[in-house]
Amino acid sequence: MAKRIYLIGGSKGGVGKSMVTMATVDYLQQQGETVLLIESDTGNPDVWKAYKETTETELVNLDDADGWIQLVNLCDSHPESVVVVNSAARNNQGVSAYGETLNGTLAELKRTLITLWVINRQRDSLELLKEYMDAIPNAIIHVFRNGYFGEEKKFELYNGSKLRTAIEERGGKSVTFPDLADRVSDDLYSKRISIAAALQEFPIGNRAELSRWRTEVRKVLDVIVDE
Ligand SMILES: Nc1ncnc2c1ncn2[C@@H]1O[C@H](COP(=O)(O)OP(=O)(O)O)[C@@H](O)[C@H]1O
Ligand SMILES: [Mg+2]
Repeated sequence: MAKRIYLIGGSKGGVGKSMVTMATVDYLQQQGETVLLIESDTGNPDVWKAYKETTETELVNLDDADGWIQLVNLCDSHPESVVVVNSAARNNQGVSAYGETLNGTLAELKRTLITLWVINRQRDSLELLKEYMDAIPNAIIHVFRNGYFGEEKKFELYNGSKLRTAIEERGGKSVTFPDLADRVSDDLYSKRISIAAALQEFPIGNRAELSRWRTEVRKVLDVIVDE
């Protein structure tokens, strides 16, 4: 079966791209997939740091053509791996300029590109999504309302937008990504370990919360990945 490329986007810093990337890698590994993680946030490679011990990872700068070429070559040389790309806050311009390089090779690579676009409740989050849709017109994009910023109904701007209609008409889904208790997410970040490792090492209360969150994440990703 053709393997996928999951590109985690959202463009803005702090919307939760790294959280969604970690959750996606963790989910795919639980499904028995071999994952190749591409960390493009070279300035703050947080997911790379947390996963480099247990997962094949590459640091690739997607701000220029070289990085996109490298990404395509890595996809080609890892035909058995699902590729997960954590994009950096500044990558929208790179994506707009070079996304076609990737897009144009998908048929030959025998891969599909699935974008998981993470949003907060602010307008610029949607403007950046619109820009991305225009740059890669036939991309399948699922929108992740990050529950860290409030419950689903508080994402009024997105929920009532034409953009949402456009996303869903293209086959994309709108989902809500679960919120993890702050003390556990803070621990995950400061210790720089994977979700699976944290489930071994954290104190029992923290593990219970992480495990609850992982179950909620699985329900969300089941909807996206199972198609
Ligand atoms: N779903 C979530 N649950 C708990 N904390 C979150 C969640 N999403 C984001 N955060 C918090 O917000 C911070 C920024 O998220 P991060 O994933 O690093 O954003 P980005 O990669 O887009 O810059 C994280 O350090 C984490 O503490
Ligand atoms: Mg990040």
